[in-house]
Amino acid sequence: MNLLSINDLSNEKIFRILDEAQVIQEQRHPPFLDLTAALLFYEPSTRTKMSFEMACKKSGVDLLTFTPETSSVTKGESLYDTVKTMEAIGADFVVIRHHKERYYEELMNLSIPVINAGDGTGEHPTQSLLDLLTIQQEFGSFEGLQVVICGDILHSRVARSNAYALERLGAKVLLVSKPEWQDHSLSFDYISMNEAVEIADVLMLLRVQKERHEEYKDDQHYLKHYGLTVEREKLMKPNAIIMHPAPINRGMEIDSSLVECKRSRIFKQMTNGVAVRQAIIHACLNKGGISYDLTH
Ligand code: NCD
Repeated sequence: MNLLSINDLSNEKIFRILDEAQVIQEQRHPPFLDLTAALLFYEPSTRTKMSFEMACKKSGVDLLTFTPETSSVTKGESLYDTVKTMEAIGADFVVIRHHKERYYEELMNLSIPVINAGDGTGEHPTQSLLDLLTIQQEFGSFEGLQVVICGDILHSRVARSNAYALERLGAKVLLVSKPEWQDHSLSFDYISMNEAVEIADVLMLLRVQKERHEEYKDDQHYLKHYGLTVEREKLMKPNAIIMHPAPINRGMEIDSSLVECKRSRIFKQMTNGVAVRQAIIHACLNKGGISYDLTH
């Protein structure tokens, strides 16, 4: 099974992956897979790539390392031919991050699963699943939760995957964004940051995607109008949590002193990423005696 969009997964399948990740995290080791994966990252990554590497190591998956700059990508080789090469030399699955939105549409003629680790401004389903696990661990369910996603909505693949999934799972999703970065193809209401901090159970901050548009230079101005300042944090509900997929522009999306504050779950999200990706690998490969089959 491929995992290309969060919409590939029914609610039931999402819950099965979250349950499996929870079991893995509670030290019931998953079966050793004895497989080989190729991680093809055409865009920079720290967390997602390292987290997949860790998930693979913990699940008995060997890694083929690939760096576009030193590969035949520099000779003009296409994504399709690169991935077919991985398949031909024996990779059992590929994990791909690529700057092109929906790059995976050109990869349908493959016999090995593709896991999308981010397609341009499109989607980031594995980030969404680790965010969902973090929220579920905190609140037990999604029903009736107020989740406010704040920031560069238009250019953030994390926004899209999370908004789709959270709404389906029963959360009330609201957005905060500078007018230029609002995405009106999403059917959610926009509110101000001042309103957001007062009503949110989950305040999900997003990185300003400086590499995807003209750089927004005035970090202080952004923080004051659209970011989480020290003053705003004080207005949050007692049990509300702060999330951010990272990397963080400290002093822009969030005051640096809040990154590790009591209600921040930012590093917890990273920790959860490993177990979630182990569960995703098991699900996509449908291997190793895991107690479910996501293919039907
Ligand atoms: C995100 C990404 O690359 O989409 N990072 C991540 O995977 N944790 C968020 C971002 O870069 O803003």
